[in-house]
Amino acid sequence: AAVKLSDYTPPAFRVEHIDLYFSLGEEYTRVRSRMRLCRAEGTDPHTPLHLDGEALELEALYLDGQALAIDDYLLTRQGLTIERVPDRFELEVHTLLRPQDNTALSGLYRSGGMFCTQCEAEGFRRITYYPDRPDVLSRFTTTIEADRERYPVLLSNGNAVDRGESEGGRHWVRWDDPWPKPSYLFALVAGDLHCHRDRYRTASGRDVQLAFYVEHANAGRTGHAMESLKRAMRWDEETYGLEYDLDIYMVVAVGDFNMGAMENKGLNIFNTQYVLASPETATDADFEAVEAVIGHEYFHNYTGNRVTCRDWFQLSLKEGLTVFREQQFSEAMGSPAVQRIQQVRLLRSAQFPEDASPMAHPVRPDAYVEINNFYTATVYIKGAEVIRMYHTLLGDGAFRNGVRRYLERFDGQAVTIEDFLQTMAETGGRDLTQFGRWYTQAGTPRLRVRDAFDADAGRYTLRVVQECPPTPGQPAKQPFHIPLAMGLVGRDGQALPLRLAGEPEGQATTRVLELTRSEQAFVFEGLAERPVPSLLRGFSAPVILDYDYSDDDLAFLLTHDSDAFARWEAGQQLAVRVILRRVHGERREEDLDKLRRAFAGVLEHPGLDASLAAEALALPQETYLAQQLEQADPVAIRAAREGVRAELAGALAATWRTVYSRYRPQGPWRLEPAAIAGRRLANLALGYLAATGAAEDDERVERQYHQADNMTDSLAALSLLADRDDAAAQAALDDFHQRWRHVPLVLDKWFRVQAMSRHPGALARVQSLLRHPDFDLHNPNRVRSVIGAFAQGNPAAFHDSSGEGYRLLADHILRLDTLNPQVAARMALPLSKWQRYDLPRQQIMKTELQRIAEAPSLSNDVYEVVSRSLENI
Ligand code: ARG
Ligand code: ZN
Repeated sequence: AAVKLSDYTPPAFRVEHIDLYFSLGEEYTRVRSRMRLCRAEGTDPHTPLHLDGEALELEALYLDGQALAIDDYLLTRQGLTIERVPDRFELEVHTLLRPQDNTALSGLYRSGGMFCTQCEAEGFRRITYYPDRPDVLSRFTTTIEADRERYPVLLSNGNAVDRGESEGGRHWVRWDDPWPKPSYLFALVAGDLHCHRDRYRTASGRDVQLAFYVEHANAGRTGHAMESLKRAMRWDEETYGLEYDLDIYMVVAVGDFNMGAMENKGLNIFNTQYVLASPETATDADFEAVEAVIGHEYFHNYTGNRVTCRDWFQLSLKEGLTVFREQQFSEAMGSPAVQRIQQVRLLRSAQFPEDASPMAHPVRPDAYVEINNFYTATVYIKGAEVIRMYHTLLGDGAFRNGVRRYLERFDGQAVTIEDFLQTMAETGGRDLTQFGRWYTQAGTPRLRVRDAFDADAGRYTLRVVQECPPTPGQPAKQPFHIPLAMGLVGRDGQALPLRLAGEPEGQATTRVLELTRSEQAFVFEGLAERPVPSLLRGFSAPVILDYDYSDDDLAFLLTHDSDAFARWEAGQQLAVRVILRRVHGERREEDLDKLRRAFAGVLEHPGLDASLAAEALALPQETYLAQQLEQADPVAIRAAREGVRAELAGALAATWRTVYSRYRPQGPWRLEPAAIAGRRLANLALGYLAATGAAEDDERVERQYHQADNMTDSLAALSLLADRDDAAAQAALDDFHQRWRHVPLVLDKWFRVQAMSRHPGALARVQSLLRHPDFDLHNPNRVRSVIGAFAQGNPAAFHDSSGEGYRLLADHILRLDTLNPQVAARMALPLSKWQRYDLPRQQIMKTELQRIAEAPSLSNDVYEVVSRSLENI
C-alpha cells in the first residue's frame, strides 16, 4: 500500500516525554518505554491512539499504571491501536527483541561485538511501539544496562547524567537529551570500544567534548575524522553563524551499516568507511569522503535536527540542503572547480539515469511504498542542485540570510519544503512560485540553444528552448525557472563584456540568464565579431545542454574559457564525440589528432593545476557515454573508449612518462593539496601508460604497486593490474589479499577492483568472487564492493550479451532480500534502467525483473523497485 503526500494529517497525540530502559543481552534484549502522551489540540476526543511497531514481541502494556488486557488493544503486523484513551496519560510498553538476529540492520542490531541502532527512517518502530513519524518530537531519557565486561561503553543521545553497577557483573548509564527530537534521531551503542577524545571551543567560548568510538583494532585511524569535524564546526560558525548546541559530540564507527552515516542527535553512527582513514589503508579519495561525510552529518545538527521534516516526502528539505552545505564545505576546504566537476560527474552518472528511468520521481516525491527506496540520488544530489540554484538566483548574502532566517523561524519544528521556499522567497525578495516546480516535476530538462549573429548590427542572439521528457505519472511538464550562467568568448580568447539589448554598458563577463518560458531569446549588442558562447558555466542548473559546437569550438573553449567548469566540459564533449564516432564505426583520421592536441594543450598550459588537469584528461565515463545514445551497447562503448585510451596512450607515450615522473610526489606520503594533486595526475598518466603495451610501462605499474607507501598509489596500480591476467598481476592480487585480509575496508577494495576489472573475463571472476570465503552477504559494504561495483561500475561485464550478469544479479538480490531488503532493493536499481539498452538486452533484463517480482514473500522494498521498473512510463 502506497503512502501519499496528499493523505498527510497531523499527529493526533503528542509525546511530551519518553523514558527508555534497555536491558541488553546475548539471547534477547528487553526494552521498557514510559511515555507521557497527550491528545493534540483540536483533535477529536474519540481518536484512537495508534503506535507503530514492527517485528516486536509485546510483553506488557500499562496505561496509567493499569495493565492492559489482550482485548483492550489491537495488535497487527504494523502496530498497536488502543481505542479509548484519556486526553493525558502515561503509557508503559515492554518489548522483547533479538538484535543478534536482525540482519536488516534497521532498529537495534549487532555489528561485530557491539550493539548499535539505525532508526531513520522507520527503524525506531522495530525497538518499541511509538508514533514513529518525524513530526512527533519528544524529550528522551535513556538508560542502558548491559554486561560490564563485554560492553564497557554505553552510549545514547545527549549527556550522560548517571551511572551505576547492577547485579551479575552488569552496569548501567543514563542519558538525557535536552533537545526534543523525532524518533528517527534516537541512537544507542554498546560495546567494548576505543575512544579518541578531543575538545572544541566554540566561537562563543563553550567547550565541547569530541569523542570518536571505534573497535580497538581501528584505534589510531580516527585522526583525520577528528580534524575534519573541527573544521566543519568552525566552518559552520563562520559561514552560517551556527554553533554546536550540546556539551558532547560523539561519533561511533560500525562495520555493518546500510548507508553512509547517520546524524542522530549528539551521537552520530557512521559506516567505518567514512570515519577510518590512515595512509596505508585509505586513498586520497577516501580521506576526502571522510571529511565530506563528517561535515554532512555535523551540518544536519541544524538542517535536519533542530529543524526537521514534517513527513518523509519532505526528505530533501534536510538532505538537499545538507548535501549543498557539505558541498560548500568541501569547496572551501579544497579546490572549488575540482569539487564542482566531481559533483557534476556524480550527478550525471547517478541522478540523470534515475531521472530517465521508471524510478524517476520528483525531488519531493508524492507517493512511496517503502521510504527507504527514496533515499535517492534525486532527493540528495538533485535536491542539492536545487538549493544551489536558490544560491545562484539570490546571491550568496541573501541565500545565507535566508537559511538563517529559516532556521530561526522554524527552530524545534517539523516543517515542509514549502516553508523553506517561502522563507527564501521572502528573504530574497523574489517570487519563487515557478521555481517550486523543481520540487514537483521529475525528469531532466533539456535546453536547446541556437544562435545567430548579425554582423552589421553587431548583434548576437541566443535562442533557448527548454523541454522536459515525460516521467511516470507526469506526461507533460510546465516550464522550469532555470538560471543559465553564460559568457561570450571573443575569437582572440578574451572574455567579452556582456550587454543585453536595452541595458547600459556593463563590465560583467558572466551573466545568469533566467529562463522561465519554454522558449526565450536573449540579444547581446556591441559585438564586433561572432563570439563563441560559453553556456551553463559552473553547471548552473541540473539540465542537459544542447548547442551545436564545432569540434574546433570545443577545443577553443577548452583552452580559453575563463570558467574552469566550462573548460572541463568542453574537453569532455570533445572526447565524447570522438568516442561515440568510434561506437558508430566512424573512424576519422583527424579525430585522434584533435584529442591529442587538446590534451597536450592542457598539459602545456603555463598555469597548470595538476588536479584540474587530471579531471580534464580523464575520458568520460562509460555510463555518461551510454546516456548520449538512444539505446546503448555497453560492450561497444567499452571497446571504443578503450580503443581511444590506447591510441592516446601511444600517441602521447613520452608525455605520459614525463608527467608520471614529474608529478609523482617525492618522499614519504603527505596529505597536502599539492601531493594529492600530484598523485592524481601521476596515476592518471599511469592509467594511460598501462595501455601502451610496452613492457617498460607494465613494469612501471608493477613497481608502483610494490613500492607504494600509501593506499592511493597501491590501489591505483592494483586496479590496473586487475585488468591484466599475467602472472605479475595475479601475484599482486594475491599479495594484496594476503596483506589485507584482516582489514575489512581494505579487503573491500580488493573485491571492488576485481569486480570492476576491464578484463574480458571479469564476469567469470565476479562469479568466483561471490563464492570466495571472504564474501559475506550479511555485510553491506562487502555486498556493495562486489555486487554493486559489478552492476553499476562495470557496464561491459554486467551487460554481457549472454545475460549471465543479469541472472547473477537477480539470484543475489533474491538471496539478499531474505536478509536485508533495504540493500537488496538498491542492488536491483541497475535493472530498472533497461530501456536504455538494445532490444535483446532489454528482453533479458525484463525477464529477470519479472522473475524477481514473482518470487514468493518478497519484501516491500524490492517489490516496489521491480514492479515500478516494469511499468511503462
Ligand atoms: N540521514 C542519513 C544521511 O545523512 C541517511 C540515513 C538513511 N538511512 C536509511 N536507512 N534510509 O544522509
Ligand atoms: Zn544526510
